[in-house]
Amino acid sequence: MKHYSYGISFSFLRKIVLTSILIFFMGISIAWAQQTGLSIHHLGANHSLVMVDEPQKYLLLPIEETAPEATIHVLVNNKADQTIQVRLAANRVDYFVPFALEQYKGKAVTFDIHTANDRTNVRNLMDDACWNEIKLADDFDTTNRDTFRPLFHHTPLYGWMNDPNGMFYKDGEYHLYFQHNPYGSMWGNMNWGHSSSKDLVNWEHHPVAIQPNGLGTVFSGSSVVDKENTAGFGKDAVIAIYTSAGASQMQSLAYSTDNGMTFHIYEKNPIITSDKECRDPNMFWHAKSGKWILILAAALEKEMWIYSSPDLKHWTKESSFGKGYGAQEGVWECPDLMELPVRGTDQTKWVLVCNLNPGGIFGGSATQYFVGDFDGKKFVCDSKPQVTKWMDYGKDHYAAVSWSNSPAGRHTVIAWMSNWQYANNVPTQQYRSANSLPRDLELYDGGDGELYLAVTPAPEVETLRSGKALKYGSFSAGTRKVSRKLPTANSGICEINLELKPRSAGKVYVALSNADGEQTTMIYDVANHTFSMDRNASGLTDFSKDFPAVTVAPCPAEDTQSLRLFVDRCSIEAFEGDGRFAMTNLVFPQKPYTTLSVYTDKGRCQISNLTVNPLKNK
Ligand code: FRU
Repeated sequence: MKHYSYGISFSFLRKIVLTSILIFFMGISIAWAQQTGLSIHHLGANHSLVMVDEPQKYLLLPIEETAPEATIHVLVNNKADQTIQVRLAANRVDYFVPFALEQYKGKAVTFDIHTANDRTNVRNLMDDACWNEIKLADDFDTTNRDTFRPLFHHTPLYGWMNDPNGMFYKDGEYHLYFQHNPYGSMWGNMNWGHSSSKDLVNWEHHPVAIQPNGLGTVFSGSSVVDKENTAGFGKDAVIAIYTSAGASQMQSLAYSTDNGMTFHIYEKNPIITSDKECRDPNMFWHAKSGKWILILAAALEKEMWIYSSPDLKHWTKESSFGKGYGAQEGVWECPDLMELPVRGTDQTKWVLVCNLNPGGIFGGSATQYFVGDFDGKKFVCDSKPQVTKWMDYGKDHYAAVSWSNSPAGRHTVIAWMSNWQYANNVPTQQYRSANSLPRDLELYDGGDGELYLAVTPAPEVETLRSGKALKYGSFSAGTRKVSRKLPTANSGICEINLELKPRSAGKVYVALSNADGEQTTMIYDVANHTFSMDRNASGLTDFSKDFPAVTVAPCPAEDTQSLRLFVDRCSIEAFEGDGRFAMTNLVFPQKPYTTLSVYTDKGRCQISNLTVNPLKNK
């Protein structure tokens, strides 16, 4: 009996101890939640509520990049306001993203969170790292933490970026919107992020300009300045048309009466619908027909549809272009249509830009274009359907479109400097993806009966030159390497100009390397008139099987090749001196390149006018 009663009291005691420990820890967690102004309620194996008791500026959401996306419904005074997908940390916190609470001032905000970890027991959910780390804050630190963040290319302060969107120029400022995930550094939750610049190279970051709504997330699109108030939103209003990506894709309008800082969503959206997958509307004013023109990518049809409108709200489909033309693999996206001067003539021609993915020249994403005529209704291509022309011969040039309303009819494009093959996996974390340098476009006669795009860095890029330029005297190189130092200022981030005369060489190699032996090699092949860039040994390459690559461009058959190279922390952009080719490639050297070397396969070559300018943003 004694023994029995001892047995009962022992197991009873054990229960009491275990329960107290549990209560103690639950108590701590409840106390903690109260201290931080949040209460967290776990409701089921995959369902929790986070209630904001004492709001601050931000709720900081803890992210683990490999975690599945949780669906968060943001409830404001119990009403569903928005839904976002967030990779809430389960095992470890990689970084935080801020959710702005200020927009809901004075209202009760609750986050209704459905995690996607397929838990069967609420206890497992409670162990997730996010619950201990989620917190309120009045600040969000955007100081750079990524060693590969470019010094002179535009990047988002944090979070994911893809296509440039809605770019327009007005009152001395260039506006750049972009596909942006503010809640993680991988693709998702598409908003229009916003930056502006007076000179196309120094950028100021602004709050998100257009957020998702009931029609869907905010995919790519364009903006125009409505000088004559054709839409009725006011003289000089900025009108944006973008794709609302819900269950289907449709086109929506938003307008701004404060120079693009804030946008109002048009209540009668969508303004264009179709039963086909259509996206990325691009608009311009066509003076000759006195109408607005809009090009829409019928992605899976591999067609660009052309619409016209008197008022930016009502659109009529005029024609389509594309069946059987150019590169046809993958989907057609992000169109642009512009009238460009032909160098050395007083002629102009129309260029239809067509980004496609996959099926780019070196796999994945790339920008092709067609040259022809446009009469306000129809685009007619000058070349045979099988002719394919590329705006850039690298792997990392996508979604290139131009600024509208640029001064003096200037046509300046900027690209997303990545490739869908690996964009989500590149070795950065606080942010992902940069833009290319801005580039001015013209046409030139290729001498083969075809007109081609000349792509030159916008002259403003020269204002990035900072510090003393290194000017090297002419030298000749043979099969033994001749090396010159890159500037130590800005860790070798620079612009390199040089002229290369092959003489008796068959191939001339120009290599950029660091002390660890990482190098990107550029090769001028004299007999084949090609310029290539080999990034197989350029630095980190193993984050994707599609990253190691050699890209090749045709180059003019001339005695002297002049080259301009722009080297940033994670990219090299190469331009033929007159823009007759451009090549944009990402590279991730673990230490900056410090040396430029020249050598040949046989015979000798002459290098002259080698100038290296350190580059930096203001
Ligand atoms: C091109 C693209 C567009 C789309 C956007 C979504 O990179 O696929 O067609 O609007 O990205 O982010």
